[in-house]
Amino acid sequence: MQGTLETALANPWGTLRTVLDGPLHPGGRAATENLLDRASVTAGTRVLDIGCGAGESLAVARDRDARAVGLDRDPAGERAIRGEMTQLPVVDDSVGVVLAECVMCLAADRERALAEAARVVEPGGRLALSDVVVEGEVPDLPDPIVDALCLTRSRSREKTIAGIEAAGFVVNDVQNHREDLLAMQDRIAARVDYEGLLGLMGERGQRLLDGIHEAEAAVADGRIGYVSLVAERSER
Ligand SMILES: C[S@@+](CC[C@H](N)C(=O)[O-])C[C@H]1O[C@@H](n2cnc3c(N)ncnc32)[C@H](O)[C@@H]1O
Repeated sequence: MQGTLETALANPWGTLRTVLDGPLHPGGRAATENLLDRASVTAGTRVLDIGCGAGESLAVARDRDARAVGLDRDPAGERAIRGEMTQLPVVDDSVGVVLAECVMCLAADRERALAEAARVVEPGGRLALSDVVVEGEVPDLPDPIVDALCLTRSRSREKTIAGIEAAGFVVNDVQNHREDLLAMQDRIAARVDYEGLLGLMGERGQRLLDGIHEAEAAVADGRIGYVSLVAERSER
């Protein structure tokens, strides 16, 4: 059992994918539909989904007959290119919409990743992004929780928007997804018996359990949040 838990903690997104049985971002497929609507993704729109994971959002885009391609450092689905968001294997001005759900906050060099998104988006094209944001004092959490919640490099909502605008986009549509984040948290808690599982791991398990409760409190009071936005690429 201990080995199984270590494996689960070493691959937080794989574990979450199994638990959630779907996309790894708050709001799931409905949130992606909403974001694609706001980014005007319709039949024929060229979409590049960076950090596409298992490809659930690619399927959503393709369902509306968009021409969607995925890229991921570690693709879990079949129809994606393996690659880095800081070095997109795509020519300039070739994409109508870059979709980036819960991935920009993971970039070691976010400015470079945003510059790449701006480079590949055609004039008038859009960045459709959703991401974790942090406000104020975020608790000092154990590494597996920081990784699972994508908190390592998360920024405030204000800094997230400022970084996107500095890359050459005009942000014109921001939405908060606190309710989606709380619902995702409840869904995971309903499916995973944290107390039972981590109770088998002694002191380390207790530290993780304490961390989970601290993270839940930070979501509840808004220190950890989730936003989505659509930004239009300004003229070069
Ligand atoms: C939290 S998951 C989100 C997956 C998917 N976008 C979703 O919303 O369900 C983050 C994904 O980004 C990928 N990723 C992380 N860093 C990356 C990078 N530097 N370049 C490309 N993909 C990256 C991971 O492999 C993972 O599939």
